[in-house]
Amino acid sequence: MPAGSGSIGGMREGSKRDRAVAGKTVIITGGASGIGKALGTALSLAGADVVIADRQVSVAEEIARELRDAGRLATATELDVRDFPQMQRVVDETAARTGKVDMFFNNAGIGVGGEMDDYARADWDDVIDVNLRGVAYGVQAVYPRMVRQGSGHIINTASMAGLVAAVGEGSYTAAKHGVVGLSKSLRIEARRHGVRVSVLCPGAIRTPILSGGKFGRLNFEGVSQEQILKMWAALRPMDVDAFARRALDQIHANEAIIVVPGWWKAFWYMERVSPTLSFRVWELILGKMRSDIKAAGGSPRPGTAAGEEEQQSPRA
Ligand SMILES: NC(=O)c1ccc[n+]([C@@H]2O[C@H](COP(=O)([O-])OP(=O)(O)OC[C@H]3O[C@@H](n4cnc5c(N)ncnc54)[C@H](O)[C@@H]3O)[C@@H](O)[C@H]2O)c1
Repeated sequence: MPAGSGSIGGMREGSKRDRAVAGKTVIITGGASGIGKALGTALSLAGADVVIADRQVSVAEEIARELRDAGRLATATELDVRDFPQMQRVVDETAARTGKVDMFFNNAGIGVGGEMDDYARADWDDVIDVNLRGVAYGVQAVYPRMVRQGSGHIINTASMAGLVAAVGEGSYTAAKHGVVGLSKSLRIEARRHGVRVSVLCPGAIRTPILSGGKFGRLNFEGVSQEQILKMWAALRPMDVDAFARRALDQIHANEAIIVVPGWWKAFWYMERVSPTLSFRVWELILGKMRSDIKAAGGSPRPGTAAGEEEQQSPRA
């Protein structure tokens, strides 16, 4: 693909926002798949120097290679966001190479699907370690540098589950509420240092996480991947590249809380205007989820921390 044609991931180029990111140094955790991959691709095509940091390092390397072959700036590096020294290394190595970090996407995340009466302890630990502690580690590693620079933008990926009482994913909802809270406080504190903070709250986006993802899991059995995606279809999951375009426009505008697709804002408004109505709606959604799983021949699987050995690594 010739440089400038911008067809990887179906991205267009040349917008005002694209021109603003040209020459910026960007780090994206969880950049090897889904939302992180789409954001990284869009930014690299727009002229940013993108560091794709992920546990899936060989996949990250492949994406970076494809972008470099297209004449773009992209590198890959191995990162487990649960490990603070690794996070600090990624930030320090990037800054040593380019002299700065302009944008830092705290995006890596996992999901554990299932109701809390079926949880094992690891269903809390795994999600909180990656989705909340990982975000805190990202902030801890990059924020002091941005303060010294007097500039930068931290973009944390939470979820609609960080704004409303999403059901069937208790640890995820808890962690994402934490990410929204952290981001709001940091945005207020960081302003005097010239550092921007935004939090992304995606609705349903078509990525591997919907059916468990590489390092997450669903605590029910007897339901095929296809059936799970069919259940998600009711929420009309958005194409991930379209998501990235809309999210980047709002990041460029320095929005504080970014909800994409926009129609999901209805849930957020309802939560604020009438928590009672919101509880009722989510109760109905839970009822539908339970009956869909049953109709598909599935049943809850008590949390067994399946694959725990593979998923866990000691925190430093
Ligand atoms: N897809 C959606 O519908 C949706 C909705 C709301 C929020 N989100 C959030 O968006 C973010 C990205 O998710 P996605 O949908 O692209 O999922 P995904 O599964 O496609 O990508 C997640 C990426 O994170 C990486 N990752 C997981 N654990 C890691 C760790 N410990 N260290 C480093 N990398 C790790 C994975 O290797 C993968 O590349 C997550 O924070 C997720 O919670 C997604």
